[in-house]
Amino acid sequence: MKTNCYLWPIYFYLLLHYVCADSIEEKIRNDPDLSEFYALLEASQLANVTLQYKQVTIFAPTNSAFQMYGNLRDDPNTLVLYHMTSAPKRTDQLGTSSLSLYSELEGSPPVWITHRTGQYHDDIYVNNARLLFIQSNIMGTEKNGNEQVLHKIDEVLVPTRSQKSASKRLYNPTALEFLENYESLIQHPHRVRSFRQKVQQFNKQDIFKTEGGHTFFIPVDEGFKNERAAFIDEKIIDGHVIPKQVLFTNPTKKDAPFQTLANGDNDIRVVILFTQEQRGSTIINYVKSHTLLGDGKHTQGVVLAEIVKANIPVKNGVIHLIQKPLMVVDSTVKDLLQEKDGGILNNFVNAIKDMGMEGEEFLNKLERSHDITLFAPCNKALEGDLTLNSILRDKQRFLDILNMHLVVDNRLYVEKILKHNRNKIFQAHTLSRGKNLYFNVVDSGTNRTMSVEGGGVNATVVQSDLAATNGIIHIIDRVLGVPCTTIWDKLRTDPMLNSTFYLGNLQGFNRQLNDTKRKFTYFVPRDKAWTDARVLFPSTIKKLFMHEFAYHATRILERHLIISDVNEPPYTIERIKQLTTNRTNRSYGGFLDVELPTVRGSLKLFIEERPNNTYVINWRGEQIHVFRPNVECTNGIIHVIDLPLLQERDVRVNRATKKHVTYLLALVCVFIKLF
Ligand SMILES: *[C@@H]1O[C@H](CO)[C@@H](O)[C@H](O)[C@H]1NC(C)=O
Ligand SMILES: *[C@@H]1O[C@H](CO)[C@@H](O)[C@H](O)[C@H]1NC(C)=O
Ligand SMILES: *[C@@H]1O[C@H](CO)[C@@H](O)[C@H](O)[C@H]1NC(C)=O
Ligand SMILES: *[C@@H]1O[C@H](CO)[C@@H](O)[C@H](O)[C@H]1NC(C)=O
Ligand SMILES: *[C@@H]1O[C@H](CO)[C@@H](O)[C@H](O)[C@H]1NC(C)=O
Ligand SMILES: *[C@@H]1O[C@H](CO)[C@@H](O)[C@H](O)[C@H]1NC(C)=O
Ligand SMILES: *[C@@H]1O[C@H](CO)[C@@H](O)[C@H](O)[C@H]1NC(C)=O
Ligand SMILES: *[C@@H]1O[C@H](CO)[C@@H](O)[C@H](O)[C@H]1NC(C)=O
Repeated sequence: MKTNCYLWPIYFYLLLHYVCADSIEEKIRNDPDLSEFYALLEASQLANVTLQYKQVTIFAPTNSAFQMYGNLRDDPNTLVLYHMTSAPKRTDQLGTSSLSLYSELEGSPPVWITHRTGQYHDDIYVNNARLLFIQSNIMGTEKNGNEQVLHKIDEVLVPTRSQKSASKRLYNPTALEFLENYESLIQHPHRVRSFRQKVQQFNKQDIFKTEGGHTFFIPVDEGFKNERAAFIDEKIIDGHVIPKQVLFTNPTKKDAPFQTLANGDNDIRVVILFTQEQRGSTIINYVKSHTLLGDGKHTQGVVLAEIVKANIPVKNGVIHLIQKPLMVVDSTVKDLLQEKDGGILNNFVNAIKDMGMEGEEFLNKLERSHDITLFAPCNKALEGDLTLNSILRDKQRFLDILNMHLVVDNRLYVEKILKHNRNKIFQAHTLSRGKNLYFNVVDSGTNRTMSVEGGGVNATVVQSDLAATNGIIHIIDRVLGVPCTTIWDKLRTDPMLNSTFYLGNLQGFNRQLNDTKRKFTYFVPRDKAWTDARVLFPSTIKKLFMHEFAYHATRILERHLIISDVNEPPYTIERIKQLTTNRTNRSYGGFLDVELPTVRGSLKLFIEERPNNTYVINWRGEQIHVFRPNVECTNGIIHVIDLPLLQERDVRVNRATKKHVTYLLALVCVFIKLF
């Protein structure tokens, strides 16, 4: 564990505390960081008695925790007693899995302990508050010599109980009692009547009052707009409960699935995952239901709901109030985008709307089309980038870019892409003609990350499979089709293009690719192309990758690079093909090559389009498949190809050179012999 020297005075100070002060009360009093908590203690007669005469564990929130907490509406007795439990427990006695301790508060409402494996040590949480590691296990004794333990925590614990004014007072409500009496239990503008009604209608009260510790999600009334209530059935109510686990937002692993009660063998299966969005300095918590196995009534896919009030502790677990019901898929892709003002896709929707009519038309497309897959950039992807902003102002360009984010007639669930993408060859046509999307899914244990590349931008899918009635949405972290790297950077970072980058580095060929005052068109053989070429010309390829032959490697690469003026349009595959057509006179004898200027001489080739919308380069009688055309960069364009522009003849050039050397040597020998 790394320790910083400036922490030593603090350690020393703490050590002094352990040794010199003997009662917990004194230790709290002398700790400037617990002054707020001490003020509460002073105001509570009951806490005072506990502190003087009883065994106790105290979870003491620091002053900064109180600052976050803000309004102290609870009376000091209530608040302070909820931070005390009757048995003295050091951190090593707090168990290894989730368990509850009973607080000293009237009705003995539990506090919930969670362990979370950290980098250096386990983090322990009480409800949603974390125990401060080096400020835990502060021991003391009360008047009769009984043990007392103090742990400092980073959040104030708030008990769930009726206010004094309530007619029917509840001191330790279950989730069901919460549902039935929420008006008197929390101060929050939200209501949960609609969901309560549904629970009653289907007689599902039992699952909310089961003993033990569970996690309950309760959608608030605002989430029942339109006819949504009609969709709620027994299965969906089951899908709102995670049994036997008490999950508070902070300690719970993000994007890890938890089984819900909707977990039949043969019918639907639903898991719930916690997730977060960081917006500026605030973190917004979301929860998503993932219907893995759907049936006629329940659509496969993910429903994302913001947690509007998190971490309400109850007798049998914890409740989170959420913005809308999980599992219910009843809106179109368009409605889903626009659903919540200030939601996770707000910037994207606003950018579309700012286009005016064209934007409206695009949104209508998202409503009318069937089985669409929309790749929607998250808020952060659309923030504060100047080149991006200038592109967004160019309506035609932006529309083109929007269309590149949309695939129709194909719901591309992650599972589906994974199945089709064994050799990274899967591609999807977008609404933008000729612009395809390419995918990769990287599985690292439990962490599955999908990336999508479009127009040279490699974006990561941050939320996948969001379900709508007419398709799905994947939320991505970048806007596709807006190039932001030079060709040099693209080659450097793309793992598929490593070999060509490596060759270009041997003699500094790559350096020019960073120049933004030129425009390049670079035919880049992917790694597999070099591996395949190695089979065709084993010795040549082997040599090319050796430092001694760097000169040859550079000559070969030069053949692949076309340099034009910065103001010229780049040679997209379509443009090269068009040039080919213009110069072709079929009646005159078929195709003619297009001549493209390279660093040294020219590259003569022509392009054919295949029926499956892929392209083939014809070069010196070879047919080379274009693996990924039109990868846009800030200073040009890359076409990823399936074989290098290399021939047997290149091999012979090498042999010839060798032969010359041999002749030369022989000649020298002859000379030596002669004289
Ligand atoms: C608790 O009560 C005793 C006696 O009433 C008093 O001396 C002491 O200061 C109180 N302690 C706190 C923390 O308020
Ligand atoms: C995007 O980049 C990552 C890491 O650089 C890579 O593993 C992945 O294959 C790329 N995705 C696509 C679709 O090319
Ligand atoms: C999954 O992996 C990605 C990149 O490899 C990383 O950014 C992300 O934090 C990981 N997620 C989890 C839940 O571990
Ligand atoms: C890139 O290719 C070179 C040459 O084949 C190889 O030595 C190097 O390990 C590769 N780097 C990566 C990151 O794959
Ligand atoms: C390429 O340009 C970028 C920014 O202009 C710079 O950070 C980088 O170091 C350059 N790389 C090379 C190889 O010159
Ligand atoms: C190719 O021909 C088409 C129509 O015949 C024309 O519109 C286009 O401008 C020509 N392109 C070039 C680059 O000459
Ligand atoms: C094609 O070539 C023939 C024969 O030279 C010529 O008569 C004809 O005009 C050419 N067509 C075009 C479109 O150039
Ligand atoms: C398209 O067809 C060519 C042969 O015509 C084939 O080599 C290529 O793999 C096909 N591409 C896709 C994506 O189906």
